[in-house]
Amino acid sequence: FQSSRQHLNDVKFFSRHLRARRHNTHKGSYGNVAVIGGARGMAGAAILAARAALMSGAGRVYACFAEDAPAYDGAHPELMCRLAGDFDMDSAALAAGPGLGTGPAARAALARAIGSGSPLLLDADALNLLAAEPALQAALAERGAPVVVTPHPLEAARLLGVSVTVVQADRLSAARELAQRLRAVVVLKGSGTVLATQDGHTVINTTGNPALATAGTGDVLSGLCASLLAQGWPAWEAALAAVWLHGMAADVLVTEGAGPIGVTAGELIPAIRTALNRM
Ligand code: APR
Ligand code: MG
Repeated sequence: FQSSRQHLNDVKFFSRHLRARRHNTHKGSYGNVAVIGGARGMAGAAILAARAALMSGAGRVYACFAEDAPAYDGAHPELMCRLAGDFDMDSAALAAGPGLGTGPAARAALARAIGSGSPLLLDADALNLLAAEPALQAALAERGAPVVVTPHPLEAARLLGVSVTVVQADRLSAARELAQRLRAVVVLKGSGTVLATQDGHTVINTTGNPALATAGTGDVLSGLCASLLAQGWPAWEAALAAVWLHGMAADVLVTEGAGPIGVTAGELIPAIRTALNRM
């Protein structure tokens, strides 16, 4: 990382939050994650996020869909597929937004997620819904539990009511401004992802490469970050570690010759698991 205050020794910084898996533990010790997303035609986004949460150590992972829920994920039958309307949003760390859509059922699911007492990550269509509705933003700012938002530049621009050009011209200020407005940890994605806290602290991530410029990699980041939240990491450290690991996994794939051309978001997931275990 390049920090506005200090240069961090990355792994040393995170490793204090990494707890070795003790013998006397069970799946309940590692938290539950629920992904809220996957509108018709976008189920893959929710599945990718849920797989990333599963393979980064969460004890149980639910994939919740606003409308039609698939029966199960054939490649990962460990995932529990549910309808968002039936899911108890207080029972898991939530990653709302991957492929969520912006219709009434999506909006209702998002409102319940914001109203819950769970750690909450918002991405993609959850951010588009938020940008369109000040009442949801007000509810978000009143939350007690931690919030992480992970906009790409266009999503950030919609939230701030400015153009993408303005966001990209001063990414540090855009991230800081959003963090203050939403009272959340902000991850402004893209080459040189910027992280910001409400009190104006910013960090620029130094891992990652253009292998990540492919559909679904943002969904994987959402699932990974929600998984760390479920495992008890504070919001800021969860966001820092998730962004760093996500980029590191892409860097390792490139070193191994699997990229930068043609890396898929799904392939990133086992690479993240390896990076996490090596830490
Ligand atoms: N260098 C480093 N990192 C990069 C680069 C790059 N050149 N390009 C992309 N990335 C990283 C970003 O930092 C981010 O972590 O890849 C990820 C891309 O995330 P998104 O932009 O959210 O892309 P995607 O996963 O396809 O989004 C899925 O959600 O946000 C909506 O409109 C989006 O419908 C789409 C869906
Ligand atoms: Mg995205």
